Amino acid sequence: MIDKLSQLKTVAETELNAVTDTRRLEEWRVRYLGKKSAIMQALRELSSLSLEERRKAGALANEVKDAFESSYKQKLEGIKQAELELATAAKALDVTLPGQPESLGRLHPTTQAMREVCQVFTSLGFETVEGPEVEWDYYNFEALNIPKGHPARDMWATLWVDFADPEKQRSMLMRTHTSPMQIRTMEKRRPPVRLIMPGKTYRYEATDVRHEWMFHQVEGLAIDKNITMADLKGTLFEFARRMFGADRKARFRCDYFPFVEPGVEVAIDCFICKGQGCRLCSGSGWIEILGAGMVHPDVLRRMDCDPAVYSGFAFGMGVERIPMLRYGIEDIRHFYGNDLRFLKQFWGF
Ligand code: DAH
Repeated sequence: MIDKLSQLKTVAETELNAVTDTRRLEEWRVRYLGKKSAIMQALRELSSLSLEERRKAGALANEVKDAFESSYKQKLEGIKQAELELATAAKALDVTLPGQPESLGRLHPTTQAMREVCQVFTSLGFETVEGPEVEWDYYNFEALNIPKGHPARDMWATLWVDFADPEKQRSMLMRTHTSPMQIRTMEKRRPPVRLIMPGKTYRYEATDVRHEWMFHQVEGLAIDKNITMADLKGTLFEFARRMFGADRKARFRCDYFPFVEPGVEVAIDCFICKGQGCRLCSGSGWIEILGAGMVHPDVLRRMDCDPAVYSGFAFGMGVERIPMLRYGIEDIRHFYGNDLRFLKQFWGF
């Protein structure tokens, strides 16, 4: 038996040396360490040997079995390591391959304009506040002096949302302007306030070169004691100069918005022809940029501000109009058409 065992050891070890993958290794394990393997059989047969032989053969059989087990473990480790190295090598970076350019996102021209407007007003002491795009009828209309049935509702073609609160008789809509933020903010704040409120607005409108169903506005609101029309004019003059050039002039003309009294439409002198009349200003020399006015006493009361003590001004402007005027973009639909050829033109700004 001793001879057989030493022979077995040599054969098994030679075979193990030739094994290079896990499948073959498993076959080897079954053959030399499995239940029916020669070594296991030998161990079982020990009892039939004489005491003397049993001691020698037993020691050797166990030694061989231990040797097989540790060689097996070692081999398994070796194969796993080799397989890992092979897999890593296959995935390794080939530094000779040409690189792929990273495409970076940039700021949309509307975002750039909106940030610029907000920066100008921030530098004048205004604070930026944002609010919801889905709005209650109350904030978008009622609280701004535009009750149900008021003819001024026609000024805002409204996208109603299919959700209503019949108990409280409230309906929802996509805000048609940023003005509801005046009311929302004043429910939480007390004068003095100087606020700028940028965001998306929606209209139920067929699109054309000047209309989109979604666009952006920036709303402004200042409430304090002794605020006058002169403050409104000074603030908007300064905005026009910082935004469109130091030599800009501004024109105020009477206009109607139910939430201000008096209401004005503000225009700047055309920065292309300097007021002479050109294509950009349709020959008039003036470009309308926003609506504004002194906050209506009823609106002030709704804000819980006594009109005998407080007064304020408000304004609202379309944001897309700014890059359209500046860069001569003739169609507002380019802004949200997602055509990179259009958007890429504004990457340098
Ligand atoms: N919300 C108005 C609109 O979308 C613009 C506007 C006009 C805002 C006068 C104002 C304002 O705050 O005082 O047409």
